[in-house]
Amino acid sequence: MHTAREKFGSRMAVIAALAGSAIGLGNIWRFPYLVGENGGAAFIVIYIVFTLLLSLPIFLAESVLGRSSGANCRVAVSSLVKGRWGHLPGLLMVFTPLWIVSYYSVVGGWSLEYLVQAVRLDFIHTAPADVTGSFGTFISKPFAPLFFHLAFLAVTLGVVALGVKSGIEKFSKWSIPTLFVIIVLIAVYSLTLPGSAKGVEYLLKPDFSKVTVHTFISALGQSFYSLSLGMGIVITYSSYVSKEENLMVAGMGSSVSDLLFAILAGFAILPAVFAAGIEPGSGPTLIFDTLPFIFSSIGQNTPVISAVVSILFFLAILIAALTSSISLVEVGVAYLTETKGFSRVGACVLLFVGCGLFGGLCSLSFGPLADVHIAGLGLFDFADSFASNILLVLGGLIVVILVGWVLPGQELFKELTNNGTLGANVKLYPVVRFLIRYVAPVGILILVLSSIL
Ligand code: PFF
Repeated sequence: MHTAREKFGSRMAVIAALAGSAIGLGNIWRFPYLVGENGGAAFIVIYIVFTLLLSLPIFLAESVLGRSSGANCRVAVSSLVKGRWGHLPGLLMVFTPLWIVSYYSVVGGWSLEYLVQAVRLDFIHTAPADVTGSFGTFISKPFAPLFFHLAFLAVTLGVVALGVKSGIEKFSKWSIPTLFVIIVLIAVYSLTLPGSAKGVEYLLKPDFSKVTVHTFISALGQSFYSLSLGMGIVITYSSYVSKEENLMVAGMGSSVSDLLFAILAGFAILPAVFAAGIEPGSGPTLIFDTLPFIFSSIGQNTPVISAVVSILFFLAILIAALTSSISLVEVGVAYLTETKGFSRVGACVLLFVGCGLFGGLCSLSFGPLADVHIAGLGLFDFADSFASNILLVLGGLIVVILVGWVLPGQELFKELTNNGTLGANVKLYPVVRFLIRYVAPVGILILVLSSIL
């Protein structure tokens, strides 16, 4: 069954949607910390090199597969795999983002709840000492986190239900510029705080003594994760890209936006963390414990500024999480509507129930289900580690092998150079092809080995 396919309306729309998928919690709670821990500017250089040599080629491989097939991820991937089990790799790549969005929207729910707290001026009205630890109390409650998880998922699916152009494109086109404006404003404010210079030093000062083998693996993993690779998103979004679009330019635009946002997030967060005399960490505690503590401390002297900054900050986190979760569910919606005959709204309702239930269990794993363990991990942590260590790398490997070794060379050339009409791309083509065929699979194997060993 084939429904008429929508297309993104312009290059800006393509880049906004792909950057929206890439810019997410990973940029805000992981990248700045990794940079500081791994030698500042030295890490950023390594990260850029890996993005150019590995992540961007995989990104382009996914783009080629998506646009050349003009179909959802299951059809796009399976069209290159023959045999009785040929549908399985495609199905896996539809399953991965749905698995991920289930627990990603638990965190999205936390950011929604924290935005509500910021709007209610809770951080300002609470003493800094009382703010610390309130995150642990909140996530271990049974109902509130569950409610916000479902609310976040409902907003995500609400946008997707509106369609590719009226939903995803419109949302990305206003939200990505808004995100950049907010993060720049916060960074400017953060840099004015006394003691903020130490944060800039932490973020930028090249320190090669901190560069170890682990640094390279972290840079590789973060660049892969941040560009949302291996989970069918780039394949699905690229199937909505017109044949006239320059895939290399769109890929560069999205990855540069992603890197820029990650660095700006570092400037927004770390100077304030150092100004407050706190050691930076990564993950949920940085966002939901450390920063509310800072908002509360600042709020004791300058309540209005603290209120504005805290509202803007949690709004930014919410938007960043939403544009990523939208891209995650679109993979499943495209599959259900095109291959299984669902209406868009019907597919969204089904995913709300499925991801709502699984994510609900992950949410409860911080409270009533804390004793349930799989492979020694709580449900949320298991879901995250299974996705990051197994599903994503498997997805990445499937794509580079299929595009590098199974897809006919002329098809790859045609998509990357628009039938040989883009001169610069024609020149770059042999390099990109080499990177997709040889460098990318080796890089992914290194990621697999590093997670096993
Ligand atoms: N690339 C986005 C981020 O950095 O947050 C989205 C994302 C990546 C979501 C990987 C989930 C994931 F496992």
